Amino acid sequence: MIIGIIGAMDEEVEILLSKMKLEKVQVKANMRFNSGKLYDSEIVVVRSGIGKVNAAICAQILIDDFNVDNIINVGVAGGTAEDIYPGDVVIANSLVQHDVDTSAFGDKIGQIPRMNTYDFKCDRDLIERAQMACKKIENIKNFTGRIVTGDQFICSTEKIKYLNREFNALACEMEGGSIAQVAYLNNIPFVIIRSISDNANNGASMDYKKFAPIAIRNSTEILKNMIMNLSQ
Ligand code: ADE
Repeated sequence: MIIGIIGAMDEEVEILLSKMKLEKVQVKANMRFNSGKLYDSEIVVVRSGIGKVNAAICAQILIDDFNVDNIINVGVAGGTAEDIYPGDVVIANSLVQHDVDTSAFGDKIGQIPRMNTYDFKCDRDLIERAQMACKKIENIKNFTGRIVTGDQFICSTEKIKYLNREFNALACEMEGGSIAQVAYLNNIPFVIIRSISDNANNGASMDYKKFAPIAIRNSTEILKNMIMNLSQ
C-alpha cells in the first residue's frame, strides 16, 4: 500500500521529511514528490503549495504518477465552531468548498454545479484510524465533523459565524475540499486532518503566527501514529 501525504506548506511536511527514509525525489508541476518509507509503510510526501488549485494538481499527480492507494492531508486550519481552540484537532468527515457560489441558478452555496454530490466524504476507516491516533497523544482534544475550504484566509467574526451557520463547519482552510474532490472523482479513499492555529477572527493572523508551530507538531504526531498503525 502506498500512502500519499499532502501538506500545503514546507513547515507542514518538514518534520515528516526528517523522519522518513527518503528513497527518491521527483519534481512535477514545481512540487517535490518525496518517496520512501516510514515505519515500513511506503509513503510519498509532498508540499502542494497553498490554495485549491495547487492542492488539486498535487492530488491528481499523486494518483496518476505515484499510484497512491489513499491520501492523507495534514496541516493547520482556523476554528469556526464554538469551543474549538488553537491546538485542538479537527478530523474531517466531510468537505465543502465554501467559495463555490452558483446560487443564481438556485444551487446551494458550496454545491459544485452538475456534480452528483454536495459534500465530499472522508473514508470511514481512515477517520477511525485518525481518531485512534489522536487518543494516543496526551492533551489533544479532537473533533470530527465538516471542514470547509476556500481560496481565502478567514479573519472575520462575521465570516466564521456564516461558515458555521451555512455549512455547520468546525474549521476552515484552503486545500482540503479540492483534494477531496480529486480523490472522490478518482475513487481514492482520503482523510483531512487539521490542527487549529487560530479562530479565524480578527486576530487570526497574529494567532496563526503564534500557534501554527504547535498545531503543526500536533498534526504531524497524529500522522506518525496513523502510519505506524497502517503499516501493522
Ligand atoms: N488556515 C489556518 N488558519 C486559517 C484561516 N483562518 N483561514 C483559512 N485557512 C487557514
